[in-house]
Amino acid sequence: MTPLIERFRDRLPVSAATPVVSLGEGSTPLLHAPRLGKLLGIDLWLKWEASNPTGSYKDRGMTVAVSKAAEQGAKAVICASTGNTSSSAAAYAARAGIPALILIPEGAIAGGKLIQTRALGAKVLEVRGDFDAALAGARELADRGTHALVNSLNPYRIEGQKTVVFEIVEELGGAPDAFVIPYGGGGNTRAYVKGLDEAGLTTPLWSIESDDRPHTLASAIKIQTPVHRPQVEASGARVVAVTDDEIVAAWLQLAREEGLFCEPSSAAGLAWLRRGTELQGARVVVTITGHGLKDPDIANKHAPPPVKVDADPDAIAAAAR
Ligand code: F0G
Repeated sequence: MTPLIERFRDRLPVSAATPVVSLGEGSTPLLHAPRLGKLLGIDLWLKWEASNPTGSYKDRGMTVAVSKAAEQGAKAVICASTGNTSSSAAAYAARAGIPALILIPEGAIAGGKLIQTRALGAKVLEVRGDFDAALAGARELADRGTHALVNSLNPYRIEGQKTVVFEIVEELGGAPDAFVIPYGGGGNTRAYVKGLDEAGLTTPLWSIESDDRPHTLASAIKIQTPVHRPQVEASGARVVAVTDDEIVAAWLQLAREEGLFCEPSSAAGLAWLRRGTELQGARVVVTITGHGLKDPDIANKHAPPPVKVDADPDAIAAAAR
């Protein structure tokens, strides 16, 4: 697997002096989804970012951020996170041989992400407060110079994440009619805008947020005050809000119609498209940002439990009906 930095070297701020810290990120599948597309009335393509090494798109930005931190001699990295940035920072820091300090909002990140981050050897601190409080703490500590901040405020994160646009356009053989992504803190929206700009495209970008940011069950995008909001608003991206019920319906439908099990936040774009939008008939790329195994508790609440049965063919046949 070609590292993302090698594949897009000419479009990234790296040089021969940059040590490439890679886990084989990027080059993810772009899947045509005709069955779900027909139901939604669009020509639907899904960018399956869950196939990145830690199970989310964060790895695209983290390979660049940690490689640059290593180049600049950072002794440790720090981030605040709703969970996926945590896992990615922990993995790339381990790969670089430097420690990761992770601040998470107390009790608010999905179980799979927390376990993944712990297993990857990061020091995990549960901050009494929400994501905004954790991010403020991480920024203040990073300002002291002991840790490199690898949140999306780090411009190298945006640089790495913009490459998804290049991949999609290359694979489709041209631009789609629209891109649709979830919107939490807004770093990824800025990355798509940058990627589109550098590719010379004016394709519309829809960024889908929760209508109840502080409480949504989609914990990845449970962020009250998006740190990139001013830039998102100025960018021309179109922001739409969806409800938790819409997210859950879209999330289950994606799994059942197309065989893709993602985490709830990743279904925000489909939740909006299910309303029947102005994109009817268009070729639309929806980015599925993170894997379903990241949040087993939520899946456990919504997927049918197994049925207990004796190892007897009649009993199995009866139970299968
Ligand atoms: N999808 C997933 C799976 C995410 O983990 C995130 C953000 C988003 C979408 C939204 O992207 O914040 O750039 O607008 N997760 C961050 C984290 C906040 O800490 O893992 P955004």
